Amino acid sequence: MWGRRVVAALQPHQASLCTNTAHPMRCCTRMASQRQKIQQKVRRHNKGVASGSWHAVTLCRGGLVLAGCRLPARASLDEPAPPSSLHAAALDVLHEPDPFAKATMTAAYHRQWFAGDIPATWAPGDDTDGRAPPDRPGRSDLVRIVDPADVPRRRKGLNDASARAVLLHSLCHIESWAVDLSWDAIARFGAREDMPRGFFDDFCRMAADEARHFLLLVEALERNGAVYGDYPAHDGLWDNAMDTKDDLLLRLAVEHAVHEARGLDVLPGAIRRFRKVPGAEGVTCADMLEGVIYPEEITHCAAGVRWFRYLHRRRGYEDAGETLEEADEETACQSTFHDIVRKHFHGLLKPPFNHVARAEAGMPQDWYLPVASKGRPTQRTKTGFANGEQRC
Ligand SMILES: [Fe+2]
Ligand SMILES: [Fe+2]
Repeated sequence: MWGRRVVAALQPHQASLCTNTAHPMRCCTRMASQRQKIQQKVRRHNKGVASGSWHAVTLCRGGLVLAGCRLPARASLDEPAPPSSLHAAALDVLHEPDPFAKATMTAAYHRQWFAGDIPATWAPGDDTDGRAPPDRPGRSDLVRIVDPADVPRRRKGLNDASARAVLLHSLCHIESWAVDLSWDAIARFGAREDMPRGFFDDFCRMAADEARHFLLLVEALERNGAVYGDYPAHDGLWDNAMDTKDDLLLRLAVEHAVHEARGLDVLPGAIRRFRKVPGAEGVTCADMLEGVIYPEEITHCAAGVRWFRYLHRRRGYEDAGETLEEADEETACQSTFHDIVRKHFHGLLKPPFNHVARAEAGMPQDWYLPVASKGRPTQRTKTGFANGEQRC
């Protein structure tokens, strides 16, 4: 029985996520006598897997899952050695082409960073050997990339499993890119902007959240009869990110205070649609979105806004050599944000807004209402993201 389960779990991209809190305990007991056997099978299998051994494991609330069995959180079965710095960890993930490997590496590096096993935010030589932050992160050909106009349309009603799969697949793809975006902020800007330790902490935590979201959504996708890669997708999110690759202030504004904030506007609608689905699956998906992903996305938006304010204030000091009053500083910060949206977002922000979540993220209405449209219809653009379809 164990042999069959191991082999099944070792099929590339099919590792499963265990979310049943009772399950790991039961599995650990049963696994004690089987662990050696399983490890031998994994090693044998991994010899034949071109992209390494990452397919063998996946996350389970801080632990590792193998064939539905939880290993201790710090099990070393496939744990990468701690890199010289978090910057180097970010580059590892960005250059890794397999989205599942990105997620598992992210979880490992997050654990190592907060355990103090990674000694520095940045170290000299991290970028050598052609390891500068790539303009396009490693991506396997698992998902076919198409023009935004050719991406399957999401349907409003989710009673049908295929309709749920289309939506979940699209969310999986967004989360996978969000993993890269979080690490890109560290690799591209952390050292260059001489950002403090808190910046590295926040974006490492964000990367781990996005990786967990990706794996949770993949599991939901599989419950609904599809796997990641079954549908084509577009990469507008990354194209947008590259528009802001030269300036951290632009990146924080456009990716976090615009796109992630937009995710907060639309997520409650998706949750409501899942709640309307008869049966357990709709409830499971709604609970996952509402209980895990939504509150964590608020913290991502909050981090973006917080670091935008920090950098704006710091640059203001550098430019003017003087300190503004707090109220003036906030007004100047909002005005800079408005300028950035007008110049770099290529459109106005689209209501309705989730004022409560945005306020929780530290973004009062003065931030976004002055650059909001009056409810124009969604326009699909080349990247698919301006003035309409954004995160989630
Ligand atoms: Fe996410
Ligand atoms: Fe996020």
